Amino acid sequence: MLHKEIEEALNMQVASESDSSNLYLAMASWAETNGYEGSADFLYQHSDEERMHMLKLVKYINERGGHAKITSLGEPKRNFDSLTDVFEGLLNHELKVSEQINELVHICLQRRDYTTHNFLQWYVAEQIEEEALARSVMDKLKLIGNDKGGLYLFDRDVAQMSVISAAQNTAQ
Ligand code: FEO
Repeated sequence: MLHKEIEEALNMQVASESDSSNLYLAMASWAETNGYEGSADFLYQHSDEERMHMLKLVKYINERGGHAKITSLGEPKRNFDSLTDVFEGLLNHELKVSEQINELVHICLQRRDYTTHNFLQWYVAEQIEEEALARSVMDKLKLIGNDKGGLYLFDRDVAQMSVISAAQNTAQ
């Protein structure tokens, strides 16, 4: 049985993963309507991954005798200045999620809930991968700057990066 404090903290993470999924969906829609199809593919897929992160938490909470809560979400940002604005937002968002996961892990240790601690290790590993991916995307965008040809190639290649990431995820 989950301790109430842990159940609440996990439920906050359910909302956070849904929020991530929504934000990346909004980013995908912006990219698609601004001619960045590769980036849109990357972001649609990333949005799906976040939904999977959310579902995994929902099932875990319910399996452990808790009740996963589904809450309404605020509207995510709709418009972006550039691809850099999008991916900078994504990196910052992932950094925030990593902090949330670390806080969850900390609460589990305080409450001596080693089962949930163990369950959360998957998220710890996932955050390392997602942060690294977001950083490498941002590094590429910094190199390109405002070069249109560079942005065209970036948009083509970033779709591949999402495919590689998906293959790694399914291999886990
Ligand atoms: Fe579910 Fe991108 O963290």
